[in-house]
Amino acid sequence: MLRVKRGCVAFLMLGLFARAAIGGPRKVIIDTDPGTDDAMAIMLALNSPEFDVRALTVVPGNVTAAQGLENALRMVSLADRCDILVAGGAQHPLFQKLVTAEFWHGKNGLANVELPPSKCKKDPRWGPDLIIEMVHANPHEITLVPIGPLTNIALAIEKDPSIVPLVKEVVIMGGSITGGNVNASAEANIANDPEAAQIVFQAGWPLTMVGLDVGDKTLLTRKHIEAFKKNPGPVSDFMYKVADFLIGLSEKFGETGTPMYDPLAVGVALDSTLVKAPAMHVDVETRGEFTRGETVANRRGANERNVLHHFPDGDRYVIEGLDKVEPNAKVCTEVNAEKFLQMFVSRIQGK
Ligand code: BDR
Ligand code: CA
Repeated sequence: MLRVKRGCVAFLMLGLFARAAIGGPRKVIIDTDPGTDDAMAIMLALNSPEFDVRALTVVPGNVTAAQGLENALRMVSLADRCDILVAGGAQHPLFQKLVTAEFWHGKNGLANVELPPSKCKKDPRWGPDLIIEMVHANPHEITLVPIGPLTNIALAIEKDPSIVPLVKEVVIMGGSITGGNVNASAEANIANDPEAAQIVFQAGWPLTMVGLDVGDKTLLTRKHIEAFKKNPGPVSDFMYKVADFLIGLSEKFGETGTPMYDPLAVGVALDSTLVKAPAMHVDVETRGEFTRGETVANRRGANERNVLHHFPDGDRYVIEGLDKVEPNAKVCTEVNAEKFLQMFVSRIQGK
C-alpha cells in the first residue's frame, strides 16, 4: 500500500516538474514595489516550478525605494533564495512626486510583519541596468512581470530600446478599462507614473495587462487561508499574516476577501488560460483633467476617420469610414478566479 502511495506521489511530482522541464523553467524578472500583494506574488512565483526567478528589481510605489529594497531582500532571505538577484532602481516616478501607500500595505509595506534581517545582499547594479544586462544575456527568454509603477521598465527601454524585441513577454499588473482604484479613472500602478506606463505600453513587445478588471474578481478569503495554518513554515506563516491583514482591511470596507492584484499577474504569466484577454490598443492618458493615468483601451479595434468638407452652410467634418487600430496589448477581461485562488493556496503550501 505504502509502495503504491509513494509511487503515486513520485509520479505526480514528476508530472509537475516535467511540465517545467519542457524547455526548462522560464526565466523571469519581477519588477516590484513590495508591498503586501507584491509579497504574495513573489512567493507564488518562487513556489512555481515553471519559473526560474532570476531577479527582483525594486521600484518605488507602495513604499519608498529604500523600504522596498529592504522588503525584497528580507523576502528572498525568508524563502532561502539568496541566489535571486535583488537590485534597487528608480528613486521616484519620471515626472511627478511619489505617492506611497502605507495606508493600504502597513507602515513597512509588509502588513507590519517584521521579517528577520536579510542574510542576502543587494546586487550593486541599478535595476534598469540589470534588466538590460539580463535581457541581452538571455535573448528571447526573459519574461518581465512588473507589478508596481512602470518607472524601471520605462527607464530600461529609454536607455536601451534594443531590449524590446529580445524580451519574451511582459505581463503587467496595472490599469483598468472599467474605472480606477485611486480615483474614478486610474489604477494605482499606472497613476503613480503615467508617462512611464505610456512608454511601456507603446514599446511594441508582447504585453498582457492584468488590471483591476480581473484583479477585483479574485478575492482571497479567510476560508482560503486556513490551509496555511495547517502547513506551517516560514513562508506560509508570513503569507497567513499578510493575507490576514489584507482581509481584515477589506472587511472594514464591507468586503469578505482581498483582491489578488499582483499574484494574479504572476498567475497569468504561469497559465494564460486563467483569463480571457482580447487584443486591444491601449494608450495611457497623461494629461486629462479627470483621467491622468487611465489606461484607455480601444475595444473595437478602429477609430472613425473624419474628412473636412466645405458646405454652403459651413465647413464641417464628415465621417468617411473606419481606420483600423493595431492592438498593442492583451487586456484581461475575465478570469477563472477560483482556479487561480486554488493554485495560489496550494503552491504557497509547496504543493
Ligand atoms: C496595485 O497597486 C499596489 O497597491 C498593489 O501592490 C498593486 O500592484 C493595485 O492597484
Ligand atoms: Ca505592487
